[in-house]
Amino acid sequence: MGKIVVLATGGTIAGEAASAADAVGYQAAQRPVEALLAAASVLGDGRQVLEAQQLVQIDSKDMDMAVWQQLAQACADALARGDVRAVVITHGTDTLEETAYFLQRVLAAAPGGWQAQGKAVVLTAAMRPATARLSDGPQNLADALTLASDPAACGVLAVVAGKVFAARDISKIYPYRLDAFSAGDAGLLAWLEEGEVRWLRAAPPWPRTDSELWRRVQDTPADDWPWVELLSSHAGSSARALQALVQAGVDGLVLAGTGNATVHHQLEQAAVLAQQQGVPVWRSSRCLAGQVVPGGSSAIPLALQEGQPLSPVKARIALLLQLLLQAG
Ligand code: SIN
Repeated sequence: MGKIVVLATGGTIAGEAASAADAVGYQAAQRPVEALLAAASVLGDGRQVLEAQQLVQIDSKDMDMAVWQQLAQACADALARGDVRAVVITHGTDTLEETAYFLQRVLAAAPGGWQAQGKAVVLTAAMRPATARLSDGPQNLADALTLASDPAACGVLAVVAGKVFAARDISKIYPYRLDAFSAGDAGLLAWLEEGEVRWLRAAPPWPRTDSELWRRVQDTPADDWPWVELLSSHAGSSARALQALVQAGVDGLVLAGTGNATVHHQLEQAAVLAQQQGVPVWRSSRCLAGQVVPGGSSAIPLALQEGQPLSPVKARIALLLQLLLQAG
């Protein structure tokens, strides 16, 4: 069995509160990775952890490009090693879906050829801090170690509350429930029960990505990455926020549209003008479930990956990476 490298980034899974009864008024990102692993191994996990590294210690609401660069490099370094089967990342739940999607796109472009060996990155998190009486972190981390050891685990996956998600499909839909994530209509990849992974469908292979993307991600200082913003279309939308962003030099925009990715006419007119000025604008849907049906008469292109519509936050990352690739 290949070994596992654990990279810790913070989040509620490493959070601490003054009282074991407090699952809301806590500080995320306090406990070191060694403490998280010690708590998870209480559950009887016998996996061989090669190495554990505290990469950063942050609340994932504060995730930024510099940490993503660091995380991508640490994953690629680990996965390039012949004795490593997978990386497990402990992360906050709030932006887990963004980091997962980013890593899936970017690591596919990393050198080394290890993608063909079906290696995996498994993210996990918790909704209750480590100090909570019934903390979910230890079980989730134990599940992540189990999943990472499974030969069928491939690409970037996430496991929370016993459910296994593909990076492309995962979204956080509940702000408090332990079972906070959904894969929507795409469905789960697998679930974990009694330390066993029960696969429902095969994990998607690493996507095809332009290998130049890896060089751009690593070589472009985080402050120089394209500036891509997300705006929502809603009742009473106006052109003003979009115009202000264009005037401020935004490099790209994603509009979280209503329903089937429709955009308020005032916002749409401003978006068309922005496109004419060279600012790419994509649209997505702010609906929480289902998928946009391509079509319609909008002049704003729909955010798609391999023909599949992306959620607004993932569309923002896809546009960011496209602009990064086009830059320089
Ligand atoms: C975070 O995202 O870092 C804090 C919230 C959480 O992990 O649930």
